[in-house]
Amino acid sequence: MVEEMAKVLCVQASPRKNGYTAKLLDGAIKGIKSVNKVEIDLIHLNDYFPISPCISCWNCVKNKNSCILNDSMGKNGKGELFKKICNANALFIAHPVYYGRPPAGLHLFFERFYPFMWSGKLNGMPFASISQAANNGGIRTAQIDITRWAITFNLRVVGGLPVHMVSYDEAIGHAEELGKKIAEEALADSRERRRVTPVERYMFSYEGQWSRLESSLMDMTNGTMQYEESLIAYAISHNSMKTKETVELLQQAGEELKQSLAHYKNEEYTSAAEHMVKMSSFWSPATLREFLPNVL
Ligand SMILES: Cc1cc2nc3c(=O)[nH]c(=O)nc-3n(C[C@H](O)[C@H](O)[C@H](O)COP(=O)(O)O)c2cc1C
Repeated sequence: MVEEMAKVLCVQASPRKNGYTAKLLDGAIKGIKSVNKVEIDLIHLNDYFPISPCISCWNCVKNKNSCILNDSMGKNGKGELFKKICNANALFIAHPVYYGRPPAGLHLFFERFYPFMWSGKLNGMPFASISQAANNGGIRTAQIDITRWAITFNLRVVGGLPVHMVSYDEAIGHAEELGKKIAEEALADSRERRRVTPVERYMFSYEGQWSRLESSLMDMTNGTMQYEESLIAYAISHNSMKTKETVELLQQAGEELKQSLAHYKNEEYTSAAEHMVKMSSFWSPATLREFLPNVL
Protein backbone atom coordinates (compact mmCIF):
# COMPACT_ATOMS: atom_id res chain seq x y z
CA MET A 1 0.00 0.00 0.00
CA VAL A 2 1.30 3.48 -0.90
CA GLU A 3 1.56 5.66 2.17
CA GLU A 4 -0.20 9.03 2.21
CA MET A 5 2.18 11.95 1.77
CA ALA A 6 1.62 15.61 2.54
CA LYS A 7 2.67 18.10 -0.10
CA VAL A 8 4.20 21.56 0.23
CA LEU A 9 3.97 23.72 -2.87
CA CYS A 10 7.16 25.83 -2.85
CA VAL A 11 7.00 28.86 -5.12
CA GLN A 12 10.28 30.54 -6.03
CA ALA A 13 9.11 33.96 -7.18
CA SER A 14 12.34 35.64 -8.26
CA PRO A 15 13.07 35.89 -11.97
CA ARG A 16 16.68 34.89 -11.16
CA LYS A 17 16.75 31.14 -10.88
CA ASN A 18 19.92 30.98 -8.81
CA GLY A 19 19.79 34.24 -6.88
CA TYR A 20 19.42 35.01 -3.19
CA THR A 21 15.72 34.10 -3.06
CA ALA A 22 16.49 30.67 -4.48
CA LYS A 23 19.26 30.17 -1.90
CA LEU A 24 16.95 31.04 0.99
CA LEU A 25 14.29 28.76 -0.41
CA ASP A 26 16.93 25.99 -0.55
CA GLY A 27 17.42 26.55 3.17
CA ALA A 28 13.69 26.18 3.77
CA ILE A 29 13.58 23.06 1.60
CA LYS A 30 16.29 21.50 3.78
CA GLY A 31 13.93 22.06 6.73
CA ILE A 32 10.94 20.61 4.85
CA LYS A 33 12.97 17.52 3.94
CA SER A 34 13.78 16.92 7.61
CA VAL A 35 10.11 16.00 8.19
CA ASN A 36 9.01 12.50 7.15
CA LYS A 37 6.09 11.91 4.82
CA VAL A 38 6.24 15.38 3.32
CA GLU A 39 7.00 15.89 -0.34
CA ILE A 40 7.92 19.07 -2.13
CA ASP A 41 6.50 20.47 -5.33
CA LEU A 42 9.03 23.16 -6.26
CA ILE A 43 8.17 25.63 -8.99
CA HIS A 44 9.78 28.70 -10.48
CA LEU A 45 6.85 31.11 -10.85
CA ASN A 46 8.30 32.73 -13.97
CA ASP A 47 8.03 29.40 -15.81
CA TYR A 48 4.23 29.85 -15.61
CA PHE A 49 4.13 33.34 -17.12
CA PRO A 50 2.26 34.97 -18.65
CA ILE A 51 -0.36 34.92 -15.92
CA SER A 52 -3.13 37.22 -17.10
CA PRO A 53 -4.69 39.80 -14.80
CA CYS A 54 -8.29 39.00 -13.76
CA ILE A 55 -10.71 40.30 -16.42
CA SER A 56 -13.68 40.62 -14.01
CA CYS A 57 -15.89 38.32 -16.06
CA TRP A 58 -17.34 36.78 -12.85
CA ASN A 59 -17.47 33.36 -14.46
CA CYS A 60 -15.75 31.87 -11.42
CA VAL A 61 -18.61 33.12 -9.26
CA LYS A 62 -21.44 32.12 -11.56
CA ASN A 63 -20.13 28.73 -12.60
CA LYS A 64 -17.77 26.23 -11.09
CA ASN A 65 -15.40 28.30 -9.00
CA SER A 66 -12.64 27.90 -11.52
CA CYS A 67 -11.24 30.38 -13.99
CA ILE A 68 -11.88 30.33 -17.74
CA LEU A 69 -8.79 32.28 -18.80
CA ASN A 70 -6.45 30.33 -21.03
CA ASP A 71 -3.31 30.18 -18.90
CA SER A 72 -1.72 28.23 -16.04
CA MET A 73 -4.18 29.68 -13.48
CA GLY A 74 -7.25 29.14 -15.66
CA LYS A 75 -8.63 26.64 -18.19
CA ASN A 76 -11.64 25.92 -15.98
CA GLY A 77 -9.53 24.57 -13.15
CA LYS A 78 -7.25 22.56 -15.43
CA GLY A 79 -4.47 25.16 -15.54
CA GLU A 80 -1.27 23.53 -14.31
CA LEU A 81 -0.57 26.03 -11.56
CA PHE A 82 -4.20 26.12 -10.41
CA LYS A 83 -4.17 22.32 -10.06
CA LYS A 84 -0.91 22.39 -8.11
CA ILE A 85 -2.41 24.82 -5.59
CA CYS A 86 -5.53 22.64 -5.21
CA ASN A 87 -3.38 19.53 -4.62
CA ALA A 88 -1.13 21.07 -1.95
CA ASN A 89 -1.37 20.79 1.83
CA ALA A 90 0.64 23.97 2.31
CA LEU A 91 1.91 26.92 0.33
CA PHE A 92 5.41 28.33 0.82
CA ILE A 93 6.50 31.39 -1.14
CA ALA A 94 9.95 32.95 -1.36
CA HIS A 95 10.22 36.24 -3.22
CA PRO A 96 12.55 39.17 -3.76
CA VAL A 97 11.46 42.59 -2.52
CA TYR A 98 10.75 45.07 -5.31
CA TYR A 99 9.91 48.63 -4.23
CA GLY A 100 9.18 47.41 -0.72
CA ARG A 101 6.63 44.89 -2.03
CA PRO A 102 6.39 41.41 -3.50
CA PRO A 103 7.10 41.41 -7.26
CA ALA A 104 4.34 41.96 -9.85
CA GLY A 105 4.20 38.29 -10.85
CA LEU A 106 3.02 37.38 -7.35
CA HIS A 107 0.35 40.05 -7.49
CA LEU A 108 -0.98 38.46 -10.68
CA PHE A 109 -0.75 35.01 -9.11
CA PHE A 110 -2.84 36.03 -6.09
CA GLU A 111 -5.24 38.20 -8.07
CA ARG A 112 -6.25 35.04 -9.90
CA PHE A 113 -7.19 33.34 -6.62
CA TYR A 114 -10.70 34.84 -6.87
CA PRO A 115 -12.27 31.40 -7.52
CA PHE A 116 -10.85 30.28 -4.15
CA MET A 117 -12.42 33.28 -2.47
CA TRP A 118 -15.85 32.00 -3.50
CA SER A 119 -15.26 28.27 -3.10
CA GLY A 120 -13.44 28.61 0.24
CA LYS A 121 -11.23 25.78 -1.02
CA LEU A 122 -8.04 27.18 0.49
CA ASN A 123 -9.59 28.00 3.86
CA GLY A 124 -7.13 26.80 6.49
CA MET A 125 -4.30 25.79 4.16
CA PRO A 126 -1.02 26.55 5.95
CA PHE A 127 1.04 29.37 4.48
CA ALA A 128 4.50 30.82 5.09
CA SER A 129 6.77 33.12 3.14
CA ILE A 130 10.22 34.65 2.85
CA SER A 131 10.60 38.26 1.66
CA GLN A 132 14.20 38.93 0.64
CA ALA A 133 15.86 42.27 -0.12
CA ALA A 134 19.41 43.27 -0.96
CA ASN A 135 19.30 47.04 -1.28
CA ASN A 136 17.23 49.74 0.52
CA GLY A 137 14.97 47.28 2.31
CA GLY A 138 11.18 47.27 2.66
CA ILE A 139 11.22 43.69 3.94
CA ARG A 140 8.47 44.27 6.49
CA THR A 141 6.10 46.13 4.19
CA ALA A 142 6.61 43.29 1.71
CA GLN A 143 5.86 40.73 4.44
CA ILE A 144 2.69 42.60 5.38
CA ASP A 145 1.64 42.65 1.73
CA ILE A 146 2.13 38.95 1.19
CA THR A 147 0.51 37.92 4.47
CA ARG A 148 -2.45 40.17 3.63
CA TRP A 149 -2.84 38.24 0.39
CA ALA A 150 -2.75 35.01 2.34
CA ILE A 151 -5.41 36.00 4.86
CA THR A 152 -7.60 37.34 2.05
CA PHE A 153 -8.05 33.73 0.97
CA ASN A 154 -8.27 32.37 4.52
CA LEU A 155 -4.89 30.69 4.32
CA ARG A 156 -3.53 29.88 7.78
CA VAL A 157 -0.41 32.06 8.17
CA VAL A 158 2.03 30.01 10.25
CA GLY A 159 5.13 32.15 9.81
CA GLY A 160 7.04 34.61 7.71
CA LEU A 161 10.63 35.68 7.37
CA PRO A 162 11.66 39.18 6.33
CA VAL A 163 15.32 38.95 5.27
CA HIS A 164 17.83 41.58 4.31
CA MET A 165 21.05 40.20 2.86
CA VAL A 166 23.04 41.86 5.66
CA SER A 167 21.80 39.03 7.89
CA TYR A 168 21.84 36.24 5.32
CA ASP A 169 24.06 33.89 7.36
CA GLU A 170 21.64 34.02 10.28
CA ALA A 171 18.55 34.02 8.04
CA ILE A 172 19.45 30.78 6.30
CA GLY A 173 19.06 28.98 9.65
CA HIS A 174 15.70 30.68 10.23
CA ALA A 175 14.62 29.66 6.72
CA GLU A 176 15.36 26.05 7.59
CA GLU A 177 13.32 26.32 10.80
CA LEU A 178 10.43 27.88 8.86
CA GLY A 179 10.66 25.06 6.31
CA LYS A 180 10.39 22.49 9.11
CA LYS A 181 7.39 24.33 10.52
CA ILE A 182 5.48 24.48 7.22
CA ALA A 183 6.21 20.77 6.67
CA GLU A 184 4.76 19.88 10.07
CA GLU A 185 1.72 22.04 9.32
CA ALA A 186 1.32 20.36 5.93
CA LEU A 187 1.37 16.98 7.61
CA ALA A 188 -1.33 18.07 10.06
CA ASP A 189 -3.32 19.47 7.11
CA SER A 190 -3.11 16.13 5.28
CA ARG A 191 -4.85 14.50 8.26
CA GLU A 192 -7.47 17.21 8.69
CA ARG A 193 -7.71 20.79 7.50
CA ARG A 194 -8.23 23.29 10.32
CA ARG A 195 -10.38 26.05 8.89
CA VAL A 196 -9.79 29.68 9.80
CA THR A 197 -12.91 31.14 11.38
CA PRO A 198 -14.16 34.57 10.27
CA VAL A 199 -13.38 35.97 13.75
CA GLU A 200 -9.83 34.55 13.67
CA ARG A 201 -9.36 36.22 10.32
CA TYR A 202 -10.32 39.61 11.74
CA MET A 203 -7.99 39.04 14.69
CA PHE A 204 -4.97 38.62 12.43
CA SER A 205 -2.17 41.11 13.03
CA TYR A 206 1.38 41.32 11.78
CA GLU A 207 3.71 41.92 14.73
CA GLY A 208 1.71 44.92 15.90
CA GLN A 209 2.42 46.74 12.61
CA TRP A 210 -0.73 45.83 10.74
CA SER A 211 -4.02 44.59 12.13
CA ARG A 212 -6.88 43.43 9.94
CA LEU A 213 -9.47 44.54 12.47
CA GLU A 214 -8.05 48.03 12.78
CA SER A 215 -7.49 48.46 9.07
CA SER A 216 -11.04 47.27 8.29
CA LEU A 217 -12.55 49.64 10.85
CA MET A 218 -10.42 52.49 9.52
CA ASP A 219 -11.50 51.62 6.00
CA MET A 220 -15.21 51.53 6.86
CA THR A 221 -15.00 54.83 8.77
CA ASN A 222 -12.88 56.78 6.29
CA GLY A 223 -9.92 56.68 8.63
CA THR A 224 -11.75 58.25 11.60
CA MET A 225 -13.02 55.36 13.76
CA GLN A 226 -16.29 57.36 13.96
CA TYR A 227 -19.56 55.79 12.82
CA GLU A 228 -20.87 59.18 11.64
CA GLU A 229 -18.03 59.36 9.08
CA SER A 230 -18.51 55.79 7.86
CA LEU A 231 -19.41 54.57 4.37
CA ILE A 232 -22.60 53.14 5.87
CA ALA A 233 -23.70 56.39 7.54
CA TYR A 234 -22.95 58.17 4.26
CA ALA A 235 -24.93 55.65 2.23
CA ILE A 236 -27.92 55.95 4.58
CA SER A 237 -27.93 59.76 4.69
CA HIS A 238 -27.41 60.09 0.91
CA ASN A 239 -29.89 57.34 -0.09
CA SER A 240 -27.09 55.63 -2.02
CA MET A 241 -28.93 52.31 -1.95
CA LYS A 242 -32.30 52.16 -3.64
CA THR A 243 -34.13 48.93 -2.92
CA LYS A 244 -35.98 48.19 0.32
CA GLU A 245 -33.92 45.02 0.73
CA THR A 246 -30.53 46.68 0.41
CA VAL A 247 -31.53 49.59 2.65
CA GLU A 248 -32.54 47.12 5.37
CA LEU A 249 -29.25 45.26 5.02
CA LEU A 250 -27.42 48.58 5.22
CA GLN A 251 -29.17 49.53 8.43
CA GLN A 252 -28.32 46.19 10.01
CA ALA A 253 -24.71 46.58 8.90
CA GLY A 254 -24.67 50.04 10.49
CA GLU A 255 -25.84 48.72 13.87
CA GLU A 256 -23.08 46.09 13.82
CA LEU A 257 -20.45 48.65 12.87
CA LYS A 258 -21.50 50.87 15.80
CA GLN A 259 -21.16 47.89 18.16
CA SER A 260 -17.80 46.94 16.74
CA LEU A 261 -16.42 50.46 17.14
CA ALA A 262 -17.68 50.64 20.73
CA HIS A 263 -15.97 47.35 21.62
CA TYR A 264 -12.79 48.39 19.83
CA LYS A 265 -12.65 51.61 21.84
CA ASN A 266 -12.98 49.52 25.03
CA GLU A 267 -10.12 47.32 23.80
CA GLU A 268 -12.53 44.35 23.56
CA TYR A 269 -11.02 43.19 20.32
CA THR A 270 -12.63 39.76 20.01
CA SER A 271 -16.10 41.27 20.49
CA ALA A 272 -15.20 43.99 17.99
CA ALA A 273 -14.19 41.28 15.51
CA GLU A 274 -17.41 39.33 16.11
CA HIS A 275 -19.46 42.40 15.24
CA MET A 276 -17.32 43.04 12.14
CA VAL A 277 -18.11 39.52 10.97
CA LYS A 278 -21.81 40.30 11.38
CA MET A 279 -21.38 43.73 9.82
CA SER A 280 -19.79 42.14 6.77
CA SER A 281 -22.59 39.56 6.51
CA PHE A 282 -24.99 42.48 5.87
CA TRP A 283 -22.69 44.96 4.11
CA SER A 284 -21.29 42.54 1.52
CA PRO A 285 -24.68 41.31 0.19
CA ALA A 286 -26.03 44.89 0.28
CA THR A 287 -23.19 46.18 -1.92
CA LEU A 288 -23.32 43.16 -4.22
CA ARG A 289 -27.08 43.43 -4.73
CA GLU A 290 -27.02 47.19 -5.17
CA PHE A 291 -23.91 47.72 -7.27
CA LEU A 292 -23.07 44.34 -8.83
CA PRO A 293 -26.52 42.80 -9.30
CA ASN A 294 -25.59 40.65 -12.29
CA VAL A 295 -22.73 38.73 -10.72
CA LEU A 296 -24.71 36.49 -8.39
C1 LIG B 1 12.58 46.25 -9.86
C2 LIG B 1 13.40 46.07 -8.62
C3 LIG B 1 13.02 46.72 -7.46
C4 LIG B 1 13.77 46.55 -6.29
N1 LIG B 1 13.36 47.14 -5.13
C5 LIG B 1 14.06 46.91 -4.00
C6 LIG B 1 13.61 47.44 -2.76
O1 LIG B 1 12.59 48.10 -2.64
N2 LIG B 1 14.36 47.19 -1.66
C7 LIG B 1 15.50 46.46 -1.72
O2 LIG B 1 16.15 46.26 -0.71
N3 LIG B 1 15.92 45.92 -2.86
C8 LIG B 1 15.23 46.13 -4.00
N4 LIG B 1 15.65 45.58 -5.15
C9 LIG B 1 16.82 44.69 -5.11
C10 LIG B 1 16.31 43.29 -4.86
O3 LIG B 1 15.87 43.15 -3.54
C11 LIG B 1 17.38 42.29 -5.16
O4 LIG B 1 17.70 42.41 -6.52
C12 LIG B 1 16.85 40.93 -4.85
O5 LIG B 1 16.81 40.82 -3.49
C13 LIG B 1 17.66 39.88 -5.44
O6 LIG B 1 16.97 38.68 -5.29
P1 LIG B 1 17.30 37.50 -6.27
O7 LIG B 1 18.76 37.26 -6.13
O8 LIG B 1 16.49 36.37 -5.84
O9 LIG B 1 16.91 37.96 -7.64
C14 LIG B 1 14.92 45.73 -6.32
C15 LIG B 1 15.29 45.09 -7.50
C16 LIG B 1 14.56 45.26 -8.64
C17 LIG B 1 14.97 44.52 -9.90
